[in-house]
Amino acid sequence: MPSPLAHIPALPAKPIVGHTLDVLNDSYGLHRRSAAAFGPVYKIKLLGKWRVSLGGADALEFILGDTDNLFSSAGGWEMLDVLFGGGLMLRDFGDHRAHRRIMQAAFRKPVLDLYRTRMAAALDPLIARWPAHEPFAFFPEIKTMTLQMGAAVFMGLPVDDPRVPKLNQAFIDEVAASMGVVRAALPFTKIRRGVKARAYLRDTFRALIPERRAAGGDDFFSQMCLARDDDGNCWSDDEIIDHFNFLLMAAHDTTAATLTKMIWAMATFPEWQDRMIAEVDALGDAPLDDAALAAMDVTDRVLREALRLLPPVPFIPRRATRDFTFNGVDVPGGTWVTAMAGMVMMSSVHWTDPDSFDPDRFSPNRAEDQSHRYAWAPFGGGAHKCIGLHFATMQVKVFMALLLRRFRVELAQGTPVVWKRMPIPSPKGGLPVRLIPR
Ligand code: HEM
Repeated sequence: MPSPLAHIPALPAKPIVGHTLDVLNDSYGLHRRSAAAFGPVYKIKLLGKWRVSLGGADALEFILGDTDNLFSSAGGWEMLDVLFGGGLMLRDFGDHRAHRRIMQAAFRKPVLDLYRTRMAAALDPLIARWPAHEPFAFFPEIKTMTLQMGAAVFMGLPVDDPRVPKLNQAFIDEVAASMGVVRAALPFTKIRRGVKARAYLRDTFRALIPERRAAGGDDFFSQMCLARDDDGNCWSDDEIIDHFNFLLMAAHDTTAATLTKMIWAMATFPEWQDRMIAEVDALGDAPLDDAALAAMDVTDRVLREALRLLPPVPFIPRRATRDFTFNGVDVPGGTWVTAMAGMVMMSSVHWTDPDSFDPDRFSPNRAEDQSHRYAWAPFGGGAHKCIGLHFATMQVKVFMALLLRRFRVELAQGTPVVWKRMPIPSPKGGLPVRLIPR
């Protein structure tokens, strides 16, 4: 029987692995070549499955803005189910909406203010400990720091709590497993280690629930234990654990990768670092409250440009629940479909000289991001749009203000930095930098 996707074109694929290695080595190159050969609709074979790519900002709007229950997020992200099942992105439609309404309680403005205070208190001493003048690899260091900070802001534990190193290691194993190519929990595989780590994390979270339900706290976990929607619905213990486990994963590598790209940009384009420093100096020693963060406009543009050039989630997967037609191409129900936020953010249709680092493209007089509702979509869009977007922006600004009050940053390597995009963006070699006290 001919494949139901036989009419959709593809570049030649290797037996068994298909395009998986091309995706890992140069995902944007593969999509550029495919789009040049076939236009916006083509397929690629990744991790054993054919996936249909729909290119362009209109396609992003069509997929992410779906209100007809056509595109399943749980189906698209099914590879995460074994480790992060029950998380928001692994739920669909009415069920997803009901859970998201409860989670919203942990992201209300007054609660975000509490997290911000906790975050600044946890980060400042950690940044102060960084060595001056000594080269160190920024990416692994910021991953460690955001985990340490996460213990305080996400779990309400002291940064030096004895449980923190073991929790962080379990979390690292769990995330590494979700990226593993072998998907069965066979002995000595990443996934086996990840499944064990997940069990340990779940037990630890479960043990904290009674105390946090009773006493609350100004951290994510406590807020999720207390979270209720407007009708008073709340989560069971198992649901709290699932959502919290997923939230940690969604929050961590995304933010660490974004901060790393910003540090690279600040060191590579010192005139932008100077502008950020001037903006931070203008705040004086004032607390980093809402007004202070709102005044960090240059930092905001550098952040947006970093997310455009190196989005942590450049490809957003979905699974079609029924047949549909896009651009005149019929796609059968059950097909895995990819929304291409990363490619749209590099398209010359929406961006001037898209490869260049140019944060002023976000200035009000240029506003290139306004050329289409989905021209700039590093946080996705529609029902599953990143619920942590304000938290992530707040974290980036607090970190930058605290860093630049103490240090300037320089690259400690002479050669151009090479970036790996998949599965999570990272600089090859970890991005060696030097901090110069100000
Ligand atoms: C720069 C940092 C971040 C980026 C670029 C980012 C990106 C994204 C994207 C693209 C999605 C949508 C995926 C989809 O539609 O399938 C998403 C969803 C999500 N993000 Fe983020 N994220 C970031 C930080 C965070 C943080 C800090 C948190 C939590 C504090 C968080 C929590 C979530 C959750 C819970 C979802 C699922 C939402 C849903 O399914 O309704 N993210 N994120």
